[in-house]
Amino acid sequence: MVDAILGLQWGDEGKGKIVDYFAPQYDLIARFQGGPNAGHTLYVADKKVVLHQIPSGVFHEKTINLIGNGVVLDPVTLKKECDIVASFGVDVRKNLFISQRTNLIVPTHRALDKASELAKGHDKIGSTLKGIGPAYMDKTGRNALRVGDLQSPDFKQQYAQLKQKHQQLLDNFNFEEDISVWETEFFEAVEFLKTLNIVNGEYFINDKIAKGKKVLAEGAQGSMLDVDFGTFPFVTSSNTTSSGICSGLGIAPQQIRDVMGVTKAYCTRVGSGPFPTELNDATGEELRKLGSEFGATTGRPRRCGWIDLVALRYACMINGVTKVIMTKADILDKFESLQVCTAYDIDGKEEKEVPFQMMRHTITPVLKSFNGWNCDTIAAKTFAELPEKMKSYVTFINEYIGVNVSHISNGPGRDQIVSVG
Ligand code: GDP
Ligand code: IMO
Ligand code: MG
Repeated sequence: MVDAILGLQWGDEGKGKIVDYFAPQYDLIARFQGGPNAGHTLYVADKKVVLHQIPSGVFHEKTINLIGNGVVLDPVTLKKECDIVASFGVDVRKNLFISQRTNLIVPTHRALDKASELAKGHDKIGSTLKGIGPAYMDKTGRNALRVGDLQSPDFKQQYAQLKQKHQQLLDNFNFEEDISVWETEFFEAVEFLKTLNIVNGEYFINDKIAKGKKVLAEGAQGSMLDVDFGTFPFVTSSNTTSSGICSGLGIAPQQIRDVMGVTKAYCTRVGSGPFPTELNDATGEELRKLGSEFGATTGRPRRCGWIDLVALRYACMINGVTKVIMTKADILDKFESLQVCTAYDIDGKEEKEVPFQMMRHTITPVLKSFNGWNCDTIAAKTFAELPEKMKSYVTFINEYIGVNVSHISNGPGRDQIVSVG
């Protein structure tokens, strides 16, 4: 049996906290896509930790964690993360496993990411510059090095061949970067990575499932950043939606039971691209300030706006979401009034579907107003304690998207979450 937790917006919905909250109910947490572009924040013993590649179940002693084949893995970031996790007393050699089919991010991928973004100029994606796009291009272009290759005696030769291909591309971009420091770090980190548990991920996970163990698939980014269904080309390079679970872990679709989709009570986006409900005004600034909306990976200010139900319903459809978890509801505590987007006015016509190419249209959100609840909710432990106005807000969302909110998160802490009903 496999359940999943994934993001329904443009990332940073609070997936890390939610995975950490549910982790004790599972035996294995498995990341199925993305790489160090992700920043998943959790609080362990009141200390903030941001995980990029290690699954967010790592702080639970009885839960083991798998980095799946669908991930692109940067050994340098992984080593740093392992050091942080170890400082909390976690033994990664006991509870972290890595698929040998996981693709590697090499230093020239980072240089290529930079070169590509520079060449795009005004049209840049706003990538995290972690080498994600180039690494996935090498996967589909059938050039990539994978974790299993580290065990091969000619790994350095394979690396040199790939680097040479990348150098040609960098020359085409007319881009120069001294990667010698990154390279030294990379080879040190590779030696470290070789000492971790490298497994045949697909057998590893299917064996657990066959033994009746409970598996939780952890997504990164959000559905609107999915390479097929997101706001292309302003997306990441992997399938962030539930389809990515099967290909990113090597499991069959009939194994998947609950798909838990995480959404903020409002909406944010970091990087370029369409964002119909964005607020470029004092209200947007207020959301950013109250929500501390700055990227967990890059520190960039996140763009803020009202919840977009057109995009949310679309994300629920694509993912087959069975439960919605709403985070950061407490951030709306101080607002007199709230808005939700119920349709897009596209070139003068009202639409309730996400269009093929958002950039080619002028989209104005059709907004419905709600009275804010205007009271503190961070201490609430039960649904009954939550204000009626918040309940009406949630009920409207349930009805619009056709899936019910099962949990409301009312603070960043592990215990700040309320089960609905
Ligand atoms: P992720 O990438 O989806 O894991 O999300 P991030 O960690 O990038 O961003 C979510 C931010 O919101 C983090 O700083 C969390 O600590 C914080 N957070 C998560 N849930 C809540 C919540 O319910 N209330 C508040 N105030 N903060 C939250
Ligand atoms: P988590 O898992 C928010 C965004 C980048 C950029 C676009 C492409 O923490 O939710 P990439 O580096 O993947 O080539 O960048 O996607 N992006 C994210 N935004 N949260 C993330 O991850 C993101 N990962 C990538 O800002 O717009
Ligand atoms: Mg994040």
